[in-house]
Amino acid sequence: MTQIRPIIAPSLLASDFAKLGEEARAIEAAGADWLHIDVMDGHFVPNITLGPDIVKALRPHVKIPFDVHLMIAPADPYLEAFREAGADIISVHPESGPHLNRTLKRIRQLGAKAGVVFNPSTPPETIEWMMDEVDLILVMSINPGFGGQSFMTSQLKKIERLRAMIDATGRDIPLEVDGGVTPQTAPLCIAAGATALVAGSAVFRGGPSAYADNIRALRGV
Ligand code: DX5
Ligand code: ZN
Repeated sequence: MTQIRPIIAPSLLASDFAKLGEEARAIEAAGADWLHIDVMDGHFVPNITLGPDIVKALRPHVKIPFDVHLMIAPADPYLEAFREAGADIISVHPESGPHLNRTLKRIRQLGAKAGVVFNPSTPPETIEWMMDEVDLILVMSINPGFGGQSFMTSQLKKIERLRAMIDATGRDIPLEVDGGVTPQTAPLCIAAGATALVAGSAVFRGGPSAYADNIRALRGV
């Protein structure tokens, strides 16, 4: 059983896109801690989702932090727009630009928390020299681009490694996992050291009346 109470960040990607405001409100009412927003450009990943105008339109609907996962390249020209739209956490993939350190500093300068996302092939050492600049670490347990894929157990070792790297800093940096997180795989993530869980399909299945139970099931309670 889980020792900690994980942060649950439902991914809006699995919601009904024709009712985004309603879905965001239902998820907050169901006990979600953060709202995970997947931004895709059809270039960095093979899918297209939404941009800063939609994030801005959603902002008045809920109070929970917006955890914005940028799957766009380049990301730098859009950081300000996402921050102004109401993003609280902005996470980028190191592969999306040539200067990760500069990008992270810029996100912080804008007043948001700066996150780094690890693709399944991205090594933990990528941020070895940037631990002071990082406010959140997000490990992808699928290849980014689509919801509903199966959890890659190969990433559990990486979560463990990043847990050790975070502990060595003495700072409380959330370690988030994204992709194929279900009531079955969530305990594996927690045992490996994760403190935050993104889930699309596992939260949104069954419609609004099921959201609270789905979130509880991820927490293992
Ligand atoms: C995929 C996204 C995920 C996605 C997860 O690129 O980053 O946030 O919504 O979906 P599930 O939980 O269905 O695997
Ligand atoms: Zn995501």
